[in-house]
Amino acid sequence: MSRTLITSALPYANGYIHLGHLAGAYLPADIYARYMRLAGKEVLYVCGSDEHGVAITISADKEGVPPKQIIDKYHKANLEAFAKFGMSFDFYSRTSNKLHHEDSVFFFEKMLSNGFLTEKEEEQFYDEKAKMFLPDRYVEGTCPVCGEEGARGDQCDKCGAYYEQTELKNPISVVSNTVPTIKKTTHWYFKLGQFQEFIETYIESNAGEWKENVLQQCRSWLKMGLADRAITRDLDWGVSIENAKGVDKEKAKGKVLYVWFDAVLGYITATKEWAMVQEKKGLGVKADDWKKWWKDESTQHIAFIGKDNIVFHAIMLPALEMAFGGLIMPHNIPANEFLNLEGQKFSKSRNWSIDLRDFIDDFNTTQAVDALRYTLATSLPENKDADFTWKDFQAKNNNELAAILGNYVNRVLTFVHKNMGGRVPILPDSYSKLQSITKDFALFSLMYKDRTEEELHTYYTSEFESKLSLNDFNILLAFSVGARKISRMYRHFRIKEAVAETMNLARAANKYFNDEEPWKTIKSDPDKCHKTMFMCTQIVYSLSIFFSPIIPYTSAKIQKFFNISGLILGMSNGGVPTKNFIREAVNFLVPEGSEIAEPTILFSPYEDDVIQQQIAKLGINATPTHNAQHIESNDGLISIDDFSKMKLQVGKVLEAEAVPKSKKLIKMQVKVGDERRQVLAGVAEHYKPEELIGKSIVVVANLRPATLMGLESQGMMLCASDSAHNLFFLTPEKDIADGSVVK
Ligand code: MF3
Ligand code: ZN
Repeated sequence: MSRTLITSALPYANGYIHLGHLAGAYLPADIYARYMRLAGKEVLYVCGSDEHGVAITISADKEGVPPKQIIDKYHKANLEAFAKFGMSFDFYSRTSNKLHHEDSVFFFEKMLSNGFLTEKEEEQFYDEKAKMFLPDRYVEGTCPVCGEEGARGDQCDKCGAYYEQTELKNPISVVSNTVPTIKKTTHWYFKLGQFQEFIETYIESNAGEWKENVLQQCRSWLKMGLADRAITRDLDWGVSIENAKGVDKEKAKGKVLYVWFDAVLGYITATKEWAMVQEKKGLGVKADDWKKWWKDESTQHIAFIGKDNIVFHAIMLPALEMAFGGLIMPHNIPANEFLNLEGQKFSKSRNWSIDLRDFIDDFNTTQAVDALRYTLATSLPENKDADFTWKDFQAKNNNELAAILGNYVNRVLTFVHKNMGGRVPILPDSYSKLQSITKDFALFSLMYKDRTEEELHTYYTSEFESKLSLNDFNILLAFSVGARKISRMYRHFRIKEAVAETMNLARAANKYFNDEEPWKTIKSDPDKCHKTMFMCTQIVYSLSIFFSPIIPYTSAKIQKFFNISGLILGMSNGGVPTKNFIREAVNFLVPEGSEIAEPTILFSPYEDDVIQQQIAKLGINATPTHNAQHIESNDGLISIDDFSKMKLQVGKVLEAEAVPKSKKLIKMQVKVGDERRQVLAGVAEHYKPEELIGKSIVVVANLRPATLMGLESQGMMLCASDSAHNLFFLTPEKDIADGSVVK
């Protein structure tokens, strides 16, 4: 039997997970994993923190702490937030682990001995001022492919191009803001060029299955021709290759693996760790079992990622796997486009973002988590960029989860409590065959599984009229056809549609209840009423199964009403399936007479003020930088009112000193009228502290205080920046008292 290995891109442990990440590579993967487990498949879902590379060291420089402190902080925070969001990883690892380091070096050695690496002395950007090579994001410039400015040294966020750093135009070191020189250094290159034909064949063999956006990006890459890529870097953070077998120790000094090389291996090492941990726990898994997930051709690896990761997964990873030998390649890579927020790009610096942990702190209920999962799931950026809005969150919660699903569950369970002793009704004699008829129906629907719903309808008169009412026939049909559609959509990674179809089941359920009018038949035809409510309670249980990949907390609550637990939030059971719950869900198998607990409300509506508060939070508190922040409105212009919100005053510098361990910051004590303030400015490369003492400088006086490298900054000093990135303070033309207002 085939088994499914699911991975989500390992998020960098240098920031908090936000909703854009969730919609890209995490929620769809989790829904898919949960669905496959329900369908009785053997599933393993692994992920972990990506803890190397300059993404981490730059954050560490910014926060003024060692990289280790950054990764520990964000790994822990993200792990916690993911857990609360209901992510059902079987294992969540981190690339700073020893096993990962050792294994990555081993991988490197094996590729070297297999002849797929070459050592080359190459030119690299070097920052003379900071005395360091500038790997990847340490240099910015103009993208050689699309001309975008501010492109990073290894990859352009705008067009997705992935190039050698020295191809970058107008390079600038982000460490010192100077133009880097070029210096020779030795690196190890992966002979990716040799894999051109192999990758072409691999990609085309997946045409028809893979998403168009993925195929297209790969094709345009292949068209440009695959070139050899450096897989080492000059950096003191990462997987060191100094002691690797087969390399010259002197040359390998100070070199680490390129982060993308070790990160993609993280999927494999996380699987190894999972197997080791399972073995220790005595759960019937052996440490060696990682192999069946990575070396057995019948395993299908599904790699969920965002679109900026396509080349690394569709081209680099399979080529590396081939070069290493004996590893399976991704079966599918359902990359998503980006999620926007209220019509704009996510941006941490503009505080145009919703971090998962803030959401969890603010709402703090499992209802909210499920409402968020549902809202995101209904608008995943599967084929084009999508938009998250708070109004949509409110509408999805109030008008769909509460009004359709919650309402159905509540009216049914309340009804059986009021009228039927809080149990799944016992079928009256006149309907005693119903459960066996529903089984016949299941067989019938299986036999004709290729027919459409309309076609199947025509069988009512020929096959079922004598056994089932039309309402009963219709609801059975809705569930069996719906189940099939949902399954097909999930299997083709059309998760958004599968979610919409799942809500349609709840709509059909409400319609059934309305059409049957049990509140009338309870008096006029009690037998029928019992039959109706028998069906309705079965449907409640079925819905809890169908909805469980999407809203696991709510599904678990519903199942608890039936006194069933453990089925929904559980992980993979060591990869081994327990049973096919989907089949159970369409066969309506809850025994007659089963007890049902008193229902509680599943979804309460969110009022406007709660939503308004969240909207109001966006965009405020943006991080101050030494460049004046611009205020945006739709046309890019601001009103006089906008301007007058800013309180500008003249400040006199009393004291100034360099901030230890920071290349950029100077700490100043500034007198502004009667006040004394501490202000930090990123000007250490342009001014010596002593030059500043006594100067009068324009200060933004009503800026919310910010903390930089553990120090509070109570204001911002205005600078002009020229095209070579030199900074000059703005000072009054004549001597003027501090505290004077600038307007
Ligand atoms: N850390 C990368 C990012 O956030 C993704 C790494 S995916 C992996 O963009 F496969 F390399 F792990
Ligand atoms: Zn570009």
